[in-house]
Amino acid sequence: MDWNPGKIVVLTGAGVSAESGLGTFRDAGGVWTRYDLNEVATPEGFRRDPIKVHEFYNARRKNAAGAKPNAAHEALARLERDCPGEVVIITQNVDSLHEAAGTAAIHMHGRLDRATCASCGAVWDAPLEMHAADPCPECLEPATRPDVVWFGEVPRALDDIAGHLDTAAVFVAIGTSGQVHPAAGFVSEAKRAGAHTIEINLAPSDISELFHQRIEGPATQSVPLWVESLLNA
Ligand code: OAD
Repeated sequence: MDWNPGKIVVLTGAGVSAESGLGTFRDAGGVWTRYDLNEVATPEGFRRDPIKVHEFYNARRKNAAGAKPNAAHEALARLERDCPGEVVIITQNVDSLHEAAGTAAIHMHGRLDRATCASCGAVWDAPLEMHAADPCPECLEPATRPDVVWFGEVPRALDDIAGHLDTAAVFVAIGTSGQVHPAAGFVSEAKRAGAHTIEINLAPSDISELFHQRIEGPATQSVPLWVESLLNA
């Protein structure tokens, strides 16, 4: 491929991992239709009932540990490998399926396979099952929590992400409902910077009309087709 499309910034959401068997949040039967997010995904919920919050993330961690990357993760890894322009993958997902497919990703909502200490900030590989009384391996405080971003907390790497959006030639949002900020605002930031914007989703999202182009279909089909067409342009 001689043509260089410039920097491609990809934002992924739960829809990219849906066909790997990991549930989405807001679709029928999604995680937030079965759990109250205020109870399991906020700092207040963790303070109120750390056992319940650990149980919730332990179950999700076990589920994610058994999942395999699908054709969409693999196509994005191919894009990163074969595209002459820079490819930046930002994910809201806490699974590690982009890494399992061979891509580096910016985990703006943290990672399920990491633990962190609420007291000293140490970060380490999470065991499959964590408990509220587990001591931090560094400061020994029983303050371990999943290294994920909860509602009311600030997502990770926002300065880096703003820099990428500001220099993007192409911005693609894959499998995300556009209901959670700041990620839902990335399309507007990329557009302001002059990027061509594309939404790839099974169904129209809340912010579909903000994109220049929409590709509808399951990620395992639509992402490989889009990558193929870009690499053959
Ligand atoms: P949502 O559950 O809100 O949205 C999933 C999106 O994926 C929807 O737009 C679906 O149409 C689409 N989708 C489902 N299956 C698909 C498939 N096979 N192929 C393509 N698209 C598909 O998930 P997110 O937008 O990722 O944050 O949610 C954003 C954040 O809200 C999450 O990171 C999480 C959650 O609460 C925190 O926990 C902080």
